[in-house]
Amino acid sequence: MKYVLYFVLLAAVVCAVAGGIHLYKVAARNKKEMAPYEGEKAALTRKFPKTLVVYYSLTGNTKKIAESVAEKTGADLYEIKTVEDMGSKENPLMHLRIREQLKTGKYPELAGEMPDFSKYEMIFVGGPVWWYTAATPVLAFLEKADFQGKAVVPFSTQGSNYGTYFEDFA
Ligand SMILES: Cc1cc2nc3c(=O)[nH]c(=O)nc-3n(C[C@H](O)[C@H](O)[C@H](O)COP(=O)(O)O)c2cc1C
Repeated sequence: MKYVLYFVLLAAVVCAVAGGIHLYKVAARNKKEMAPYEGEKAALTRKFPKTLVVYYSLTGNTKKIAESVAEKTGADLYEIKTVEDMGSKENPLMHLRIREQLKTGKYPELAGEMPDFSKYEMIFVGGPVWWYTAATPVLAFLEKADFQGKAVVPFSTQGSNYGTYFEDFA
């Protein structure tokens, strides 16, 4: 029994140290990536063409960024919605269901009409990183979208690792 306890304690210490190292590395990487944008905020002087900001957001982070981009660029907003309830991120079954969707390529059915892209020249598309790639509702949207002739600007929000989000998006 004593050795089991030692083992559990050791495992907890190893996990805590590994977690700390990971967070430290993420913080260092974020700092390096953001360094070019430090200093005074440049005024947004560029005139944007007719722009649409498309986003999917389960817990509100991407929504916040999408709204800010739309406000700064004078764009219209379009929210990707699913027919099924994607569930809560606290539910481990939800994570397994999403992993299965990614494995099989069977993405959730989208609710509502697709936006009318013909009205826009530039389209931002944002979503959360799920399992190191784009969230399955975003992948479902990309499968249906025809961006022919448009400038497309992808963006994501994530906890710490965006994995292959942008390669998969492309
Ligand atoms: C199912 C699921 C999987 C996730 N996978 C990752 C991941 O692989 N890498 C990461 O950095 N963050 C991951 N996250 C964290 C989200 O990307 C992050 O919280 C994001 O900002 C959520 O955006 P939202 O609030 O717009 O839904 C995951 C979150 C969920 C719910």
